[in-house]
Amino acid sequence: MFSVRISVLGTGYLGATHAAALARWGHIVSGVDVDPHRVDLLSRGVAPFHEPGFADLLREGVASGRLTFSTDVAAVDGADVHFLCVGTPQLDGADGADLSALWAAVEALAPELGRDALVVGKSTVPVGTAALLQERIDDLTPPNHGVEVAWNPEFLREGHAVEDSLRPDRLVLGTASDAAEARLRAVYCRLLADGVPVVRTDLQTAELAKASANVMLASRISVVNVLAQVCEAANADIGRLTEILGLDSRIGPQYLSPGIGFGGGCLPKDLRAFSSRAGELGVDTAAQLLGAVDDVNTYQRQRTVDLATRLLDGRPRGRRVAALGAAFKADSDDIRDSPALSVATSLAAVGARVRVHDPEAGRHLSGRSDLETRDTVESACDGAELTLVLTEWAQFAALDPVALGSVVARRVVVDGRLVLDPHRWTRAGWTVHALGRGDPWPPADTARRAG
Ligand code: UGA
Repeated sequence: MFSVRISVLGTGYLGATHAAALARWGHIVSGVDVDPHRVDLLSRGVAPFHEPGFADLLREGVASGRLTFSTDVAAVDGADVHFLCVGTPQLDGADGADLSALWAAVEALAPELGRDALVVGKSTVPVGTAALLQERIDDLTPPNHGVEVAWNPEFLREGHAVEDSLRPDRLVLGTASDAAEARLRAVYCRLLADGVPVVRTDLQTAELAKASANVMLASRISVVNVLAQVCEAANADIGRLTEILGLDSRIGPQYLSPGIGFGGGCLPKDLRAFSSRAGELGVDTAAQLLGAVDDVNTYQRQRTVDLATRLLDGRPRGRRVAALGAAFKADSDDIRDSPALSVATSLAAVGARVRVHDPEAGRHLSGRSDLETRDTVESACDGAELTLVLTEWAQFAALDPVALGSVVARRVVVDGRLVLDPHRWTRAGWTVHALGRGDPWPPADTARRAG
């Protein structure tokens, strides 16, 4: 098998999964990270985060000897292709992206770069960053050293990182030369053999491809949530409406789930960074449109808090509330900018006694004084006057409303993700509330028909 020596700088969700996928394809991979604890875990084949299938892929790579990790950037020695996978979070106090980790990685990497090395960006960055990186690398390496920058954005989702890496929808190769493209094609020869579509483009279009995909997804979710608001006002059913929309082949069914909105380490900050960069480029309409997308998203969290407060008779202080879910989405233990956690925290801030259960993210809440964490749904719901479903975990959708009804103090549930079957829950004596449906559900005439 054709094997390339590769380094991966930054071993978060993106970098660690990418490194393990590269090793699966037969390449020799050195992962480098500044966090010694993370490097220690990865080196021992232990996954530092919850990601279905990742632990097996990691163990396979480490056991094969093709996948190693280090805190020492000198470990990249001998590699021809270097992937930049460091985080690009939102700037403190501003909408733009904080690229300090990216620049630090390049400064550290430059002295280690061999002649004609290829440096490939994967992180989400403002358009124009690759060109600046190329200039900086030219300054930091000897004249005519021939190091080239390419951009190969990553579209993996948390919770699906492994399948998205091994079977991506497309490969985007942003390169300034045929030689760089050929080298990236060698890295991805397994995916090319599997028929994964490839688009070769310039550096700036490749940079934009990633940010634009997240902007499209975020916008779509906020449009759905506006539709949900109209459904509520008109006593219509957003669940049925999105089903109808999804059957339109031009619209499709994905990213049509309404509820408390999007969160996580990517969509919110990428939306703001894109808008900020567009403004710098003189495109003011981006801020108008995407500012509204952001506002609708934040408003969904507030509306959920308002609904919960109303269901506690406007007196949340001292009332027991069960919050099912803390992760920003199902199949992830990530709580960064989590809508679920935001709702739970806001209710705790007005005095509610909030008990949280999340299948994976609960351990990140230890030490918090405002929220109690519980290991099971039942113990979180014990004596609760209000139950909130805030993350779309499959196990929450599958809960038995009859059994749960016997542990709560009041059978009142807010379905923040529209994952519960309202017929089942209503039959078990629950009052079911959800943003985007007649409130409470079902409306009287539907209830009679459902029998
Ligand atoms: C997102 C993109 O989907 C990936 O393609 C991208 O690579 C990644 O960001 C990134 O930039 O690294 P991720 O943050 O893992 O991936 O999350 P998504 O699955 O896109 O979900 C984002 C949020 O939207 C979650 O809070 C989810 O609950 C919410 N969501 C999603 C909805 O509210 N409704 C939907 O219909 C879909």
